[in-house]
Amino acid sequence: MNHPEPSGQDQAAEHNRRAWDRLVRNKQRFTRPAKDDEFHDPLKVLDGNRWLGNAVLGAQLLCLAAGGGRQAPLYAAAGAKVTVVDISAEQLSLDRQVAAEKDLDICTVQTSMDDLSMFADQAFDIVIHPVSTCYLPKIAPVYREVARITRPHGLYISQHKQPTSLQASTLPSENGYELLTPYYCEAQPLPAVQGSLHREEGTLEYLHRWDQLIGEMCRAGFVIEDLTEPCHANSQAAIGTFAHRSTFVAPYVRIKARRMASPAANRVWLPE
Ligand SMILES: C[S@@+](CC[C@H](N)C(=O)[O-])C[C@H]1O[C@@H](n2cnc3c(N)ncnc32)[C@H](O)[C@@H]1O
Repeated sequence: MNHPEPSGQDQAAEHNRRAWDRLVRNKQRFTRPAKDDEFHDPLKVLDGNRWLGNAVLGAQLLCLAAGGGRQAPLYAAAGAKVTVVDISAEQLSLDRQVAAEKDLDICTVQTSMDDLSMFADQAFDIVIHPVSTCYLPKIAPVYREVARITRPHGLYISQHKQPTSLQASTLPSENGYELLTPYYCEAQPLPAVQGSLHREEGTLEYLHRWDQLIGEMCRAGFVIEDLTEPCHANSQAAIGTFAHRSTFVAPYVRIKARRMASPAANRVWLPE
């Protein structure tokens, strides 16, 4: 199987910066700005689970690794004071473009999601983090930074690729979708794929286990309040399509977490 070169945190970020700039130039998925009609009721588009409600009004809200002219302008239109972080300058230029068109105030910052050192401790009430932790080998440094910049009792809403989906074959064999990639593949980029909607071509992606996705979030100082698996399944879909594959393997998980007032409050004390 074709494995890209292993790489550290900084090399992965640099590789993916170039890859995402390219995806923007090629107008690929996740680089398309919000549509005009979505601005009529932005929270209907953004908050299907109703996890946020009125909390966004006037909130200091960070859209993390969320460039592309979609989340940041919509949250700004919903009344939040928005900062958007992304590694890709091209993605951020889409946010500035939409903000100018819609007369919205948005602050854009180009950095890797594991280095938020330009922000003060407890700077944000809400952090919104679309799918992107898969683009770094290590997830713990990201959670540490998010915990630092989120105020006590603030909200952290994130979405991630599920590990089983990153392990499973793109197309089914006669036995169905098969697990091709090991679960324990520490800091090893996933094999390159082509023509699959569950991966982004040209990027380096990494599998994070459940103990890393959820356990490390708790250990960083968050408590999980809710968790959903956005459903893309359609058992009638043509074999091998994203919807057919999603009938067997859920592609994403969405997590609602709240910052503990003190990380120590998150430790579990077992009786001796
Ligand atoms: C799937 S897109 C999410 C945002 C997109 N607007 C959407 O609609 O879902 C993933 C984003 O993560 C960004 N990204 C990848 N690696 C990153 C890193 N190390 N730090 C910050 N952003 C990163 C990419 O540039 C891209 O904008």
